[in-house]
Amino acid sequence: MTAVATILEVENLSRRFGGYFAVAEMNISVKRNSIHAVIGPNGAGKTTLFNLITGVLPPTEGRILVGGTDVAGARPDRIARLGVVRTFQGVRLFPSMTALENVLVGRFCRTSGGYLAALARIPGRPSATESGARRRAKELLDRVGLAARANMLASELALADQRRLEIARALAADPQLLLLDEPVAGMNPVEVHEAGELFKTLRDEGTTILLTEHHMSLVMAISDCVTVMNYGRKIAEGSPEEVKRNPEVLTAYLGSEVMT
Ligand SMILES: Nc1ncnc2c1ncn2[C@@H]1O[C@H](COP(=O)(O)OP(=O)(O)OP(=O)(O)O)[C@@H](O)[C@H]1O
Ligand SMILES: [Mg+2]
Repeated sequence: MTAVATILEVENLSRRFGGYFAVAEMNISVKRNSIHAVIGPNGAGKTTLFNLITGVLPPTEGRILVGGTDVAGARPDRIARLGVVRTFQGVRLFPSMTALENVLVGRFCRTSGGYLAALARIPGRPSATESGARRRAKELLDRVGLAARANMLASELALADQRRLEIARALAADPQLLLLDEPVAGMNPVEVHEAGELFKTLRDEGTTILLTEHHMSLVMAISDCVTVMNYGRKIAEGSPEEVKRNPEVLTAYLGSEVMT
């Protein structure tokens, strides 16, 4: 049964805006414990695909199976409770909360009732739960290299740190499948390398990662599988080596990106 080996199956998925198909008849199968990249030129439909998978947008057609359950058209919180959590291409943090508080919020976005309801549901000692949550949030900040900035406001962080914070917040929800939409955009080469190492470690610890990126050398270095989109459609798929050699991929990228 495919549900065992794959965490996500996207079947014949389409999304139309007016007369334009941003995603058209897409099929993707994401293996558990893999890093799976979706690449393609600007406007190829990558973010729209992520919006469909995470319930931000309903599909026009198609199925989205998470661990075998069809979630096409389901609300984002239901999909998050199944362990599918994302970051956004345009960072979406709570700007006037500290880094630590942003991560604490992430812990409870999986529960529909929110932070206080989650505490209220736990009998006994909510304060112990809260301090446990804070400890865990600090650990996550440490993992992404933000331990020293825990008490800074999110709005005071540099863009690269805001992206890291988004990842820590997503990790706070204990994702099984983590979707990262251009997670290293705006990072310098050292930061990109560190992010790549973090993604590999997360995968090795059991978090499956689906990411979009324009940073080709990172994609080619860390991905187990690469799906290439153009004009909403899948035009190629395979290992980094296979995709790099694919003539259709080279044509799609001609004049926009360099496949290195
Ligand atoms: N809400 C919307 N309404 C209308 N058109 C949209 C909407 N969202 C996306 N589109 C269109 O769908 C197409 C795909 O956009 P999408 O953002 O998914 O591309 P992308 O591959 O993520 O691009 P980039 O690499 O620039 O982030 C684009 O032509 C875009 O203008
Ligand atoms: Mg995008």
